[in-house]
Formats: sequence, C-alpha cells, structure tokens
Amino acid sequence: MTKYVIHGGHELHGTIEISGAKNAAVAIIPAALLIDGVCRIENIPQINDVTLILQILQELGADVRTVNRTTVDIDCSHIHNHQVPQELARKIRASYYLIGALLGRFGSAQVPPPGGCDLGGRPIDQHLKGFRSMGAEVEVSGGLISAAAPSGRLSGASIYLDMVSVGATMNIMLAAVLADGLTVIENAAKEPHIVDLANFLNSMGADIMGAGTDVIKIRGVERLTGGCYSIIPDQIEAGTYMAAVAAAGGEVLVKNVIPKHLDCITAKLLEMGVEVEDLDDAVLVRRIGRLRRTNIKTLPYPGFPTDMQSQIAAALCLADGTSVLTEGVWDNRYRYVDEFRRMGAQIQVDGKIAVIEGVERLTGAPIRACDLRAGAAMVIAGLAADGVTEVDNVHHIERGYEDIVGKLRGVGADIEAVTVPDEEQVPAQIG
Ligand code: EPU
Repeated sequence: MTKYVIHGGHELHGTIEISGAKNAAVAIIPAALLIDGVCRIENIPQINDVTLILQILQELGADVRTVNRTTVDIDCSHIHNHQVPQELARKIRASYYLIGALLGRFGSAQVPPPGGCDLGGRPIDQHLKGFRSMGAEVEVSGGLISAAAPSGRLSGASIYLDMVSVGATMNIMLAAVLADGLTVIENAAKEPHIVDLANFLNSMGADIMGAGTDVIKIRGVERLTGGCYSIIPDQIEAGTYMAAVAAAGGEVLVKNVIPKHLDCITAKLLEMGVEVEDLDDAVLVRRIGRLRRTNIKTLPYPGFPTDMQSQIAAALCLADGTSVLTEGVWDNRYRYVDEFRRMGAQIQVDGKIAVIEGVERLTGAPIRACDLRAGAAMVIAGLAADGVTEVDNVHHIERGYEDIVGKLRGVGADIEAVTVPDEEQVPAQIG
C-alpha cells in the first residue's frame, strides 16, 4: 500500500501541466466501440480509471495499441464479446458507458452495475429510461444490466431527463449515434466533457447538434469511421491545483487548460482574495494575503462543480471568517470532514450544508482518503498545514490524478509517496 507523506507549510511556486480530462476520457474510450476502423485518441490522462477502461475494451476484443505516453490507437473491428467482465466493471463508475456504446453498435450489452466513489445513492434510472425509450428491452437481475434492441438497432426518441445527469446525457448520446432516426435529449447536462464527447463522435462521422446546451439532437448515421481526436484538458485537475495554491500560498502557472472552463472556479477564488489571471491556454494563480470567506453552492455546469467542493473546502478551512457550502448534486459528499477535523478544522455539517469557521492554522495528522476528490482535498490540507500529514488509501486519488506527487514536487511541495506494509495503515473509522 502507498501513502503520501507531506511536510506542509511551503508555498507553491512554478508551473504545473494539466493532463487530459478524466471524465471525458472515460466516455470517449468506450465510444471507440461505435467506430468501424481505427481511432487515435490523444491527450489521454495516465490514471487508473483509464487503464481499467482500456483493459475492459481489450477483454471485449478491441485491439489497443499504445502510440506514446498519452496516445492510443483503438480498433474495435473485431469485438467478439458484449458481456463486460464483472471484476473490472465494478471498479469504475464509467463502466456504465459500455451499455450505451455496445447497445448502439451491436444491439445488445450485458454490463455489471458500475462502481466508483461512494457519494450516497448513485442511481442510473435515467440512463435506462433513455435506452428503453429508444426501443431497448432492459433487465436488471443477477448482478447484471442486460439491454437488447429486439430489431438489432435502436430507434431515435425524444427523452426528457428528470434531473441534469452527466452520465445519462453521454450514455444516451452513445446509444443514439447509430440509431435509426432522430434522438432529442432535453434537460441535458452541459459540462465541457459532454461537448468533448460530441466533438469526438462528430469527428468520426456522427451528426450531433446542441452539445453544451440543454437540448441535444442526435441524428443517427449508418456508420462511424476512424480518425484522430485530442481530449480536452481536465477542468477539475486544474481547479484542484488552483485550490492548492489558494490554500498553501505562492504563485503557479497552471498550463494546458481552457480558461473558460475554469470560470466557475476562478470566480470563487477571486471572491476569496486569490489573484487569477487568464492567459491563452493557462491561468496564473497567486495568493499572498489571508483568504477571505465565501459561500458556495455546487450545481451542474456552468455552476460551481461538485467535483471541486472538497478541494475548495480545504482552502476555506483557513479563510478569515465563516463560509457556507451547499452540496447541490450528491447526497453524501462530506465524508472527508472528520479527517479535516483531525487537522484542527472547524466544520459543522447538517445534511447538504457545511459551515466552515476558518482557523489560523491546520496541523498535520494521519488521515485517510475516502474518495477521489476528498483524497485530493486532503493533500491540499496537508500542503497548507503545519507539520507532517500522512494520507493513506491514496489508490482513490490515483484513479483520477496523473502523477499528483510529481506535479506538486515540481512546484516545491514537500510530498512523497511511501510504500508501507498493510498493518501500518491508519485504522478505519468506525461508523
Ligand atoms: N441521478 C439520478 N439518476 C440517474 C443519473 C443521475 O438520480 O440516472 C442523480 C445522481 O444521483 C446525482 C445527480 O443525478 O444526484 C447527478 O448525477 P450524474 O449522473 O450527473 O453523475 P455521474 O454521471 O454518475 C459524473 C462524474 C462525477 C461527477 C458528476 C456530476 C463521471 C465518471 N463521473 O457522475 O465525477 O461528480 O458527473 O458532475 O463522469 C469525480 O470525478 O470525482 C466524480 C464523482
């Protein structure tokens, strides 16, 4: 097992290069199943979720060739299996995209229920509603989601999502690109990775309009052919390092980003007294004085991202005054609070609301990453705290952050990944 040992209290100075977007990559890679020919995907982040999804594709019969560190060629001409292996699918949330992609291309899919971070209930009823509207018979039994189009091909349909769902929007898009006729998704999600998936599919011959608005129209085409596509930079990875500078202080150039995608994060950092300068493909982030308090509610894009809630909370723990966070997407995204309290943070949680009384200083402690973003937030708290913080369960973090230790060391953080025998791990919290 690996843990991160952080000697906090050092400002961050230098440049951090942002990798490709995780939540775009984990949809675009399964989308290769829809393509008749070889597609080249560039700017793929080197993270465990990507390794898993590529492994699943190979198990299904895809030919996956590594071109270089961030580029793969995928050829799905010889898919021989529509049943996704249980042990791999359960490790990753995005395995649900395999339902839409397999169903769209082959008219049938058997996929185990997805895994991923525990953020409270994570139903996929809207995905299944979409597939059913398009004529699929869907059954959930025996630990398997089975979907099949009786005629072998789905039919376009009008689908209204009961709530804004990133996963349902992308999954229905995947199912619809090769369907017969027009599919309309209303109340669609608008995240940058929705637009990225649509751009990827369009570049391979799909006919998708309106991605990035709340009505997406997909006219089914006969086939998609190969091509080359580069994934957008990771908005949340960039935001995480921006929050790290806010918490630890210093000046960092966060490079290879689309500043527009960061507006929702930048706006809040500016309110907190952080200086953020937008450049062409970078943002310069500087924090000198003490942080100011603010209130934040997480919302679907272009609102403040739920995937940045815990990282910004780490910074607000050190702000001057009381901040109120409201989680507007997930039921249970405050599981990190007990760990922050071990470091001296003053946080009260009532349902979806967290009240943070800023303190002058946090102190290092042994803490445990409870999910991907909370794990990143604990690293941020450790960077800003006095003394030594040891974060364990870092496999959660490595699911979604490429080389977080190397990138932080590059800007002067004193952080290292240390391998420890299992019995030395921080004991699990009861309750
Ligand atoms: N929801 C339903 N039914 C559905 C789908 C969603 O009730 O069929 C609810 C969810 O329970 C939640 C809300 O709708 O309350 C939004 O869920 P959404 O479907 O948008 O989430 P997701 O697609 O499962 C993706 C990201 C998450 C991110 C959310 C919101 C991936 C693989 N995951 O999840 O990312 O928090 O969108 O932006 O893209 C992360 O990267 O750390 C992460 C958790």
